[in-house]
Amino acid sequence: MIIVRDVSKTYVTPYDNIRALNKVSLQIARGDIFGIIGFSGAGKSTLIRCLNRLEEPDAGTILIDGKDITAMDKIQLRLARRKIGMIFQQFNLLDAKTVYENVAFPLEVSGYPRDRIKSRVEEILTLVGLTNKLNAYPLQLSGGQKQRVGIARALSNEPAVLLSDEATSALDPQTTYAILELLKDINKKLGLTIVLITHALDVLKHICNNMAVLEDGKIVEQGPVEKFFVNPESRTAKQFIDILQGFQDKSLDREGAGR
Ligand SMILES: Nc1ncnc2c1ncn2[C@@H]1O[C@H](COP(=O)(O)OP(=O)(O)O)[C@@H](O)[C@H]1O
Ligand SMILES: [Mg+2]
Repeated sequence: MIIVRDVSKTYVTPYDNIRALNKVSLQIARGDIFGIIGFSGAGKSTLIRCLNRLEEPDAGTILIDGKDITAMDKIQLRLARRKIGMIFQQFNLLDAKTVYENVAFPLEVSGYPRDRIKSRVEEILTLVGLTNKLNAYPLQLSGGQKQRVGIARALSNEPAVLLSDEATSALDPQTTYAILELLKDINKKLGLTIVLITHALDVLKHICNNMAVLEDGKIVEQGPVEKFFVNPESRTAKQFIDILQGFQDKSLDREGAGR
């Protein structure tokens, strides 16, 4: 269970102070796939980065499985972060390392037993469907394959939580679909909680059970995903549904024109 209570974050720049999060509160159940949606600049990345304190909140509390992330010192935080995997839009792989080495790296850093690293890496690469690319370098991989490496690396230390910040935004629709299916499969097989940030409504619809809408650093709506489609309440939610509807109408027009 993840509990976010009254979390605020302001960035201080030479020009102004930007209030990225304004008393955000959320509850995410263990094993859930929870989506956070919002337009660009709404504060999505700031929120997800506060969960593992890549960004320091100014105020508020974050509890993950009963442990107060916000109260931890550096050493406690380093240990806690092993149980919080993260994947990114730009994959963040080490280009000079092979697929195998990219996935082995977090294990080496965390002091995983040396004699078990090889079997662990192979196990996790089997899970993401990349056993045939063990010795390839990131530059030799497609976007979808790179993100599979990103997922494998994030899962290597057997985390309880996986954070995904726009992890499919750089991928084409088919690849996006395949990666979302993989995340669903991992959620089911490993029972881990997934917190997924997106600005694409179809991503949220495809994979999430529950969701929250972020608007100007505030949660303006949350609940089961179905509710959001049937009865959107916030301005952001309504706009997202309108945009999705517009796309669907356009593709219907195109189909019609082809006949
Ligand atoms: N490191 C930073 N320094 C200053 N302002 C930032 C920084 N990161 C984000 N911001 C600002 O905080 C707000 C929220 O940003 P972000 O969390 O990245 O939103 P999103 O991921 O929803 O696009 C934006 O106005 C953004 O410009
Ligand atoms: Mg972002």
